[in-house]
Amino acid sequence: MAGRHRRPPTADQAVLPEDVDLRLRAITQGRTVTDEGVVALPGAKHPYAYRHLYRPDGGVDRLLERLAPGPLHPPGPYPADQTRSSAAPPSPTEGIAVSTADRWNDHYAQGKGFRPVSEQEVTLLAGHLGPGAGRRALDLGCGTGEYAAALHGLGFTTTGADFSKVAVTTAQDRHQGRDGLDFQPLDIDRGGLTLLPAAGYDLITCRLFLPFVDLVPTIACARHLLAPGGRLLVTTPVTERQTPGYRSSGLRTRDLDLLRSFDWAAVAQYPLDDLLCLALTR
Ligand SMILES: C[S@@+](CC[C@H](N)C(=O)[O-])C[C@H]1O[C@@H](n2cnc3c(N)ncnc32)[C@H](O)[C@@H]1O
Repeated sequence: MAGRHRRPPTADQAVLPEDVDLRLRAITQGRTVTDEGVVALPGAKHPYAYRHLYRPDGGVDRLLERLAPGPLHPPGPYPADQTRSSAAPPSPTEGIAVSTADRWNDHYAQGKGFRPVSEQEVTLLAGHLGPGAGRRALDLGCGTGEYAAALHGLGFTTTGADFSKVAVTTAQDRHQGRDGLDFQPLDIDRGGLTLLPAAGYDLITCRLFLPFVDLVPTIACARHLLAPGGRLLVTTPVTERQTPGYRSSGLRTRDLDLLRSFDWAAVAQYPLDDLLCLALTR
């Protein structure tokens, strides 16, 4: 799929002018083109997050999600060039720019992981969430399962999900024999979340994960999976504060604004060293 992770256009693809209709662009270039952002519709109290996928066969998939009332950031619709995540391909030097399961499998097969779960993070979880007491947690993009294991350690019945089979197998091996902790292979960009029970979780966590998937559909689906009063915790670097070269692993300020704008009952945020933890209550 195109968008944040698409390949840079080849020379013959690049000759189309920027303002060519997106449907035409998808057909002529034989690839899916993504257009997403936030709009204020005239006279409407709520802004909307939209995501349009223009397919190479001429079809269009549209997703529209109503957001909480209130001003957009910045006020009014985003400028057109900012709404098109497909307009700026990631630099190949920026982290794992093409997020395919194979790329992640390679990473995990070399025995590599990511930033270890810190004591500060566990303290934050314990303080913000209280004892798990058997409540159901889902950790999206769980990798080798350390964060899911930390949630389980707090008393949550926890499922970790990831599309890297190497990560899932490693997580299962490392954390085997723990009742109420399991790991599932699941591709979140390919409808994986629709296989899970609606309103089935009290907590959904996304640690160092959201920049690698399609933001609006993932958040919309995650909201549907949360029970009323359930929480979505997003732990992420903020792109604008990152050193060049690692920026594709963070969420931009406007992505964070988009996350906050969904219809949440409460929004809180906590700094965690150089990361930000957003806590969104359904
Ligand atoms: C930077 S790692 C973070 C892993 C873990 N959350 C941690 O904090 O160590 C991002 C994870 O997202 C997973 N991922 C990326 N795209 C995915 C998708 N479409 N569906 C499921 N998992 C995905 C990758 O396999 C990888 O394990």
